[in-house]
Amino acid sequence: MESKDIIASLDVGSSKVAVLIGKTASDSAQIDVIGVGKSKINSLRKGIIVDLEATISSISEALEQAERMSGLKIDRVILGLGGAHIESQTSKGVIAVSHPNGEVTHEDRDRAVEAAQAIAQPTNREILHVIPQAFVLDGAGGIKDPLGMNGIRLEVETHIITTSTPAIKNLEKCVFQSGLSIIEPVFNVLAESETHLSNQQKEIGVVLIDIGAATTQIIVYEEGTIIHSAVIPLGGSLITNDLAIGLKTSLEIAEQVKIKHGSATPAKISETKTVDLSKIDENEKGSESEKYIAEIIEARLSEILEMVRNELKKVKKDAKLPAGAVFTGGSSQIDGLLDLSKEVLKLPSNLSHNEILIGGMTDRIDDPSFAAALALLFWGKQHATGNAGHSSQMFKDISGRFRDFWKMFKP
Ligand SMILES: Nc1ncnc2c1ncn2[C@@H]1O[C@H](COP(=O)(O)OP(=O)(O)OP(=O)(O)O)[C@@H](O)[C@H]1O
Ligand SMILES: [Mg+2]
Repeated sequence: MESKDIIASLDVGSSKVAVLIGKTASDSAQIDVIGVGKSKINSLRKGIIVDLEATISSISEALEQAERMSGLKIDRVILGLGGAHIESQTSKGVIAVSHPNGEVTHEDRDRAVEAAQAIAQPTNREILHVIPQAFVLDGAGGIKDPLGMNGIRLEVETHIITTSTPAIKNLEKCVFQSGLSIIEPVFNVLAESETHLSNQQKEIGVVLIDIGAATTQIIVYEEGTIIHSAVIPLGGSLITNDLAIGLKTSLEIAEQVKIKHGSATPAKISETKTVDLSKIDENEKGSESEKYIAEIIEARLSEILEMVRNELKKVKKDAKLPAGAVFTGGSSQIDGLLDLSKEVLKLPSNLSHNEILIGGMTDRIDDPSFAAALALLFWGKQHATGNAGHSSQMFKDISGRFRDFWKMFKP
């Protein structure tokens, strides 16, 4: 039976489903990973479900693995979201402080954030997260938390993350039919930014980039708050497709070539180095130049990084984030990525590392494609109340959700 100190997360990615089960104690910051499940999935396009049955079967497989390993039956999960349907915008809310010249109360602060949610959007979209950026009290700006301050007019700038209702509903349906209810749906890279970035990086300015199979998710911080987030509909599976075409091989072989011999820096590879394809698959003949393979990878990865750069331009942070770019996601393992990133993004570039305490089966999740599922476990420990069994209610209960962000943004 699931008990209070057990948390589970579910990341339905474009190439894999990951389920993690963690054990926590209220007097410790650590989570011990006691169940790990991973299954293949081929029923998402750009992070959006195109086959319900196949998705349910992949979720069930990963869930069963994790349950078997932990010896526990899971009935609720923190659910990660990351498809190309996710968008973000900023929105301002303005209210009059309820006691003029009195102190700003919790209610005032929440009313201001709620006012910011009154954004015009199509009926097929809904708000996922509302994150306060900064408050302005009687014209004085840059206030992180106005609670207890005196004033009359309270304004707030928020970062709002929205999703497509049909895309979410289909995912919800698959999760429910796999026998799970949803504690809370969370934008993957937002959860990852809590576990894979330090407060110092967020303060001085940083972009976290999760390059997955079909999408690249980014989140940008400055002065401790989120200033931008986006999902770019390109990822590592496109690199595999390009290699399959360039090398005239199957996708399976192209994937092996990429993982075992791929690099994003052809300039560093000798003209004479070759990959013997028969060593990857005995039915294949001949060999391919490693430099040529790297040229294909470099071309597609540069395009992805250029798109990240365009997103940074939207918030005028192009080449201007002192803590640089931090990479995670399965495709961050491509050799030479950091060199290419320094060239294209013109930013210091590093691979992410956990800023959190984990124990248990850490060797099983020592892979950046588990970054989202791991971050969702910690999100569950930090934010979720654990008593919301049904996600549809959670979607409506935005006000309950944004309150949790105070924990995140308090200095
Ligand atoms: N060693 C490696 N070198 C290069 N690429 C790799 C390596 N290992 C995995 N990948 C790539 O990482 C991708 C999978 O990453 P990840 O599990 O983060 O994606 P996902 O979460 O399923 O997809 P998305 O987040 O886009 O929905 C695949 O494209 C895979 O080819
Ligand atoms: Mg992913």
